[in-house]
Amino acid sequence: MKDKLSELALHGGTPVRDTPFPPRAHIGIEEKEAAVAYLDQVLATGTLRSYQGEEEEAYCAQFADYLGGGYADAVSSGSTAIYVALLALQLDAFSEVIIGPFTDPGGIMPIPLQCLIPMIADAAPGSYNTGPEQIEALISPRTSAIIVPHIAGEPADIGAIMELARARGIPVIEDCAQSHGARYKGQLLGSFGDISAFSTMTGKHHSSGAQGGVVFTRDEQLYQSVRRMADRGKPHFLPEGATNMQATLNFNQTDLAAVVGQVQLRKLPDLVERRRAIVGQLIEGTADLEMITLPQYPPGMDSSFWFLPVAFHPERASCDKETFCASVRAEGLPVTDDYRTGLPQLQEWYTKRRVFGSSGYPWTSPLYKGDPDRDFPNPNAHAMLQSHFNMHFHESWGVQEVDDIIAVFHKVAAAYSSG
Ligand SMILES: Cc1ncc(COP(=O)(O)O)c(C=O)c1O
Repeated sequence: MKDKLSELALHGGTPVRDTPFPPRAHIGIEEKEAAVAYLDQVLATGTLRSYQGEEEEAYCAQFADYLGGGYADAVSSGSTAIYVALLALQLDAFSEVIIGPFTDPGGIMPIPLQCLIPMIADAAPGSYNTGPEQIEALISPRTSAIIVPHIAGEPADIGAIMELARARGIPVIEDCAQSHGARYKGQLLGSFGDISAFSTMTGKHHSSGAQGGVVFTRDEQLYQSVRRMADRGKPHFLPEGATNMQATLNFNQTDLAAVVGQVQLRKLPDLVERRRAIVGQLIEGTADLEMITLPQYPPGMDSSFWFLPVAFHPERASCDKETFCASVRAEGLPVTDDYRTGLPQLQEWYTKRRVFGSSGYPWTSPLYKGDPDRDFPNPNAHAMLQSHFNMHFHESWGVQEVDDIIAVFHKVAAAYSSG
């Protein structure tokens, strides 16, 4: 075993991979041609539509079709998609919004920015996602909405969550920023909630250029509200003579972004299949390793694998998770030790209540009737920080990369094998 340890790149050995894993190649010639054709049209007419142009309308219609029918509005980011979705629900200030424990800051910050109180539900055991029991534990008469982030592309138990929420008349926002193309019981995520929000920034499965987002709903009235909230409260769909009906900002997307988004949307199903195929090969290739376990889901629960959460079993290793991850990284494979950047309780803006200057609002407002200092210990979420690391990969990786990943895990596991 000593030899195996010294062979590790961490200890000066030759890494499995001496060239970096290839970057994503998800924007290609098709996007360029579509953008150039659009710009040619702009030149010919001398006009640039600022928003809600033909291309955005087409992108939104295609997006809604993809989700099985409904209404979509393209916005400027995934964060603003959540912000707009919350505004569209017209929630009363100082009510509570329950949200899963792991999310991007942009997935939770819109809550206090609207003077709503985030209530951070625990994760379901063994998952980054929250579940019905964890949500139910936080429901109170003050609850006005639930946000369900589907993290890493893995479907939360959205069927059971919807049942719970419907029985209580609480609206649900699905946050699908990380889960384009993922399915729960065969149905695409984003089509369960009252409203759903997608990020289409460049790192996501499908992208509308460098930044972007989409809000989707099957409810026509909610869609009309979304359109107003994404556009300075303009009286879209309201009777002649109506004026800007609410204070909000301009979160519109551009036609040029929508041109790219349309091409990307067509590529999405194949891209997701490719990610699934890679994970399938990795599961097979690492099945003999006892030190780590890759995620497997029941039939019909199809992750779209934005990243790959991997369970590490310290009792079967002679090292801790951090050392294992450092070794894997030294062999050339990008992994992060844990998903602590996803837990709001570990972030200064949240612990120091930095939303509206030094006021501590919305928590400290006398209008908030709950406990402003309520702690969310979230033991299952913290257990995930201990037990899992994240492997970052993408659909452009080929046979060589898959072989290299399997080789990295075998090499590192052999060196730290406790047997
Ligand atoms: C779960 C989740 N919600 C919201 C966002 C915010 O999206 P954006 O970066 O497009 O603002 C992200 C971004 O990664 C996310 O992962």
